[in-house]
Amino acid sequence: MRTQVGIVGAGPAGLLLSQLLHLQGIASVVLEHRSQEYVLSRIRAGVLEQGTVTMLEKAGVGARMRREGLVHEGIEIAFKGERHHVNFQSLVGSSVMIYGQTEVTHDLMDARQAAGGTVLYEAEAIGIEDIGTDKPRIRYRHRGEEKELECDFIAGCDGYHGVCRRSVASDKIKTYERVYPFGWLGILSRTVPVSHELIYARHDNGFALASMRSMALSRYYIQVAADEDIEKWPDEKIWDELGVRLGPEAAAKMERGPSIEKSIAPLRSFVATPMRFGRMFLAGDAAHIVPPTGAKGLNLAASDVHYLSNALIEHYKQNSSRSLDIYSERCLRRIWKAERFSWWMTGLLHRFPETGEFGGMMQLAELDYLASSKSAQAALAENYVGLPL
Ligand code: APR
Ligand code: PHB
Repeated sequence: MRTQVGIVGAGPAGLLLSQLLHLQGIASVVLEHRSQEYVLSRIRAGVLEQGTVTMLEKAGVGARMRREGLVHEGIEIAFKGERHHVNFQSLVGSSVMIYGQTEVTHDLMDARQAAGGTVLYEAEAIGIEDIGTDKPRIRYRHRGEEKELECDFIAGCDGYHGVCRRSVASDKIKTYERVYPFGWLGILSRTVPVSHELIYARHDNGFALASMRSMALSRYYIQVAADEDIEKWPDEKIWDELGVRLGPEAAAKMERGPSIEKSIAPLRSFVATPMRFGRMFLAGDAAHIVPPTGAKGLNLAASDVHYLSNALIEHYKQNSSRSLDIYSERCLRRIWKAERFSWWMTGLLHRFPETGEFGGMMQLAELDYLASSKSAQAALAENYVGLPL
């Protein structure tokens, strides 16, 4: 099989890239290791920056998001039993959209199917070949058979565990990593969210977050040890702990119900540089991971795809490789700033046993400053709603 752009991975990065290229008449084939049902069963964050919203609209998949998404004009920060509102709209004139990544993926799948796009599920890429030439190839396994996809370019949108980044020789790539000594225990439940906006809480017991997917579907998280046994957390214990960490007002109002999903996710900061290797380009989680505090993962994947789709379009339409040549540098400037913001928010709100009581007092002093200073709030707001593309 032959195509112009061979895309590995049908997460939001791969599907969005394929859709944006299609709208400019550029052909692609997406290879996805898992089944379509499996991809749709993954529950991920759901906060979209304005730039991501605009891109999804440009890709022609904005209709349901506009109908069902919730516009949030700010967030709440809770500490010492009190909640403080940070109003993005009044501070920086922008807002965010609450719309689950699963829904974004669903809308993109529908759009690719409606346009007759080729997305092969249960097709695992097993080898990346000849990226140093103008005829790179992806070897993949589909329905028990080994095949090859020849293309002009390869987009590695295959997530952190994918094959594309790992196919690069170790002396050609540099990685930066921080693994946090804790995880997030998340639950999804068919209950009314405790507040109409997200609450990020710092408590001596650890971090907590009250989020949502809709006005009838709540998503909550608590910080737990990285190796925590989920069996030790029956639903009632999670609700009790959320009540303690989110504060008395939330505890009194919080609707409890059975969890319909419960899992523990590790927290990691990770960046691979560069993001281009000959004719292969990495995008999304394949190149970088942020801890979920601040919800930047999906938005960074979207901004990579913004730069990559424009660069490929420029190559095919204007015969210019300038934007492809600066792809990696352009992406990384934005990625490092989002890494910094996610790391800062993680540090501000989580319990770090190794920093002791002094570390805890520093967090409280910074939170007190944040609650009282419009400049500090504006810095948070500017980053949360998304730095310019
Ligand atoms: N061959 C084919 N597909 C593969 C392979 C492979 N060898 N390895 C991985 N994949 C697929 C995975 O099954 C997955 O569906 O690549 C896809 C990568 O998708 P995501 O992990 O969703 O990554 P991305 O599209 O970059 O989206 C980033 O997802 O993990 C969150 O926080 C992250 O929200 C962010 C978003
Ligand atoms: C979520 O709703 O899953 C969510 C929201 C905000 C975050 C992380 C996760 O910072």
